Amino acid sequence: MAKRSFIRGTGSYLPERVLTNDELSTMVETTDSWIQERTGIKKRHVAADGELTSDIAVQAARRALDAAGMKPEEIDLIVLATTTPDQTFPATATAVQAKLGTGPGAAFDVQAVCSGFLFALATADSLMKQGLFNKALVIGAETFTRILDWSDRGTCVLFGDGGGAVVLEAVEWDGADDAGIITHHIRTDGTKSDLLYVDGGVSSTGTIGHVRMEGNKVFKHAVTNISAAIEAVLAETGLTSEDIDWFVPHQANKRILDGVAKKMSIPEEKVVITVSEHANTSAASIPLALDHVVRSGRAKPGDLILSEAMGGGFSWGASLFRL
Ligand code: UT7
Repeated sequence: MAKRSFIRGTGSYLPERVLTNDELSTMVETTDSWIQERTGIKKRHVAADGELTSDIAVQAARRALDAAGMKPEEIDLIVLATTTPDQTFPATATAVQAKLGTGPGAAFDVQAVCSGFLFALATADSLMKQGLFNKALVIGAETFTRILDWSDRGTCVLFGDGGGAVVLEAVEWDGADDAGIITHHIRTDGTKSDLLYVDGGVSSTGTIGHVRMEGNKVFKHAVTNISAAIEAVLAETGLTSEDIDWFVPHQANKRILDGVAKKMSIPEEKVVITVSEHANTSAASIPLALDHVVRSGRAKPGDLILSEAMGGGFSWGASLFRL
């Protein structure tokens, strides 16, 4: 019998410290109205000194485990999407494994920047469908503010810290294809890396570096690439945008979300928007938004979710799943 993975719980966490647009306007030449009009962002959260990506991931994971009614010992796979690891090595997922006290199994990181959660979900789902693991934590967690240049108004107003997680369970399944995690479409284009990158690295400069972005060029590619990915997952399944109960996009810029939703004919009331509350948290933004719509009671078991992301690399993708 074939295996299929199902989402059993979601969780998220935002650090306590809030940085408002008004506070940012005392640091760089910007205004609350510019940031809100161009991005939809009102505020972002910033990790405390000594608060690591793994700490944020653990908080989100604990909440997802509670929601799933599972204990850490039951988990045999952790796939953590992050661009801001605790250390160059070992993988931050192994720190999460140790801090949570999960069962014997594997824990590793996935690096696809803002698309990281979808790449991690596709990876975990594929391994579970093969029967290699039974219960997984898929996490997106970032301390993204640590790679920002706080003198660059074109980037520092856009990002924040946070984490989100889902618990997956693999079950023997001979029912409908249209259940649990349905399908993914993930892509990259390395020729566009100069439009969004960090100007440092272990083997290049020996420094951590800061985010550099040509925002308006990224914006144009984002709508095109994301729309193509959505079309690919819908075409593969035969589902249409009318079947979607909730659109849970990567939260980079409200104008991108609105543009994609319009192009895909997804009505406004089905679009989950949390970017206003936490800015772009890179790999954390999709599970943060998913947890938000689940915990608010709006999304119900069985609802069809369409998710998408686009980020540095370029990397982009879309996933379809039922709660
Ligand atoms: O998740 C990873 C993927 N990343 C993204 O999806 C980000 C994609 N890009 C964007 O979200 C938008 O391009 C931005 C929000 C970054 C910028 O919005 P835009 O409408 O594309 O503005 P722009 O870059 O064309 O800049 C317009 C003006 C410029 O001034 P001039 O040259 O017209 O005089 C900028 O210098 O806005 C200026 N500007 C700012 N003004 C006030 C740029 N940043 C700021 C700022 N405050 N923070």
